[in-house]
Parts: sequence; C-alpha cells; structure tokens
Amino acid sequence: MKVLVVYDSQYGNTEKIARAIGDAIPGARVLHASEAGPSELESVDLLIVGSPTHGGRPMGAVQIFLRKAPATAIEGINIASFDTRFSSGLAKVFGYAAGRIANPLKKKGGNLIVEPEGFFVEATKGPLKEGELERAASWAGEVLRSVP
Ligand SMILES: Cc1cc2nc3c(=O)[nH]c(=O)nc-3n(C[C@H](O)[C@H](O)[C@H](O)COP(=O)(O)O)c2cc1C
Repeated sequence: MKVLVVYDSQYGNTEKIARAIGDAIPGARVLHASEAGPSELESVDLLIVGSPTHGGRPMGAVQIFLRKAPATAIEGINIASFDTRFSSGLAKVFGYAAGRIANPLKKKGGNLIVEPEGFFVEATKGPLKEGELERAASWAGEVLRSVP
C-alpha cells in the first residue's frame, strides 16, 4: 500500500506530528505540501494531510495543495486529515483546519476513513503538549486499521 503524508508547518510542531505518523506507517513518504505535486499522488492508496490551524483554516501551502490536487488523483483514494491547534475554548470559535482539509478532498472524491483529528500545542510556537507524538503514532495505527 502506497501511503503519502503531506504537511505544512510554520514552527515545526506539525512537521513533528507528520513525521511521527509517517514513522508509524511502514513505507510511508512524508512530504511538505509544496513538494507534493500531481506526480507524487500517482497510485497513492492512502493520503494523510495535516496543517497548523491558522484562523481556523489550514496554512497556505496546504491550501494550494488542496486546490491543485487533481480530482482524478484523489477520486477513490483513502484520506485522513489532522491539524495542530490550541486546546483553549476560545480557539473553537474559528473552528479547526483538519475538517477544512477533509472537505475539499471529499469533494474531489476522496474516501474519508477516520474523523479529522487535532493535536495540541502549548502555545503558538509550541511545544506540543506532552504525549501528542505518541498519540499521533497511535492515531496512525487507527488510520491504517480503517483502510477498507
Ligand atoms: C497566524 C496564526 C493564527 C492561528 N490561529 C489559530 C486558530 O485559529 N486556532 C488554533 O487553535 N490555533 C491557532 N494558531 C496556533 C497554531 O495552531 C500553532 O501556531 C500551530 O499549531 C503550531 O504549529 P507549527 O509549529 O507546525 O507551525 C494560530 C497561529 C498563528 C501563527
């Protein structure tokens, strides 16, 4: 099974989550969103996309990736999405990136196999809250087990 993890990250925390997910899935490739052109999507079976939450949305490179990814490449493949975010109640007002990553992928025919997931940072530049890298690895296991 060909697995691709695509991410963007301003301060490195989302990249750490993306790599923890990639490390938990044998053979997975982990690419920055700016490197994930259409040729990288060829014959991918499972696509996992993640971003920091900025104003309730994914960051620029992920937005561009979502816009440019050809529907022909996304149609019928298994997808999952994640973000990093604050745990405070105030952040809820804006919503989170993970759902807004999943929606355009679903519109292009992707098969969302688990609920969009969020991982928590302590503050804008991080660090990640304790245990989040381990939680990312176990979420990756859940994603794998959900592949039909
Ligand atoms: C411009 C900006 C807007 C942000 N907006 C939100 C937000 O709406 N909700 C939230 O939970 N976190 C927000 N954050 C915090 C980010 O989620 C946090 O910086 C990110 O998880 C760190 O990931 P990174 O190290 O990969 O950049 C924002 C951060 C920045 C810099």
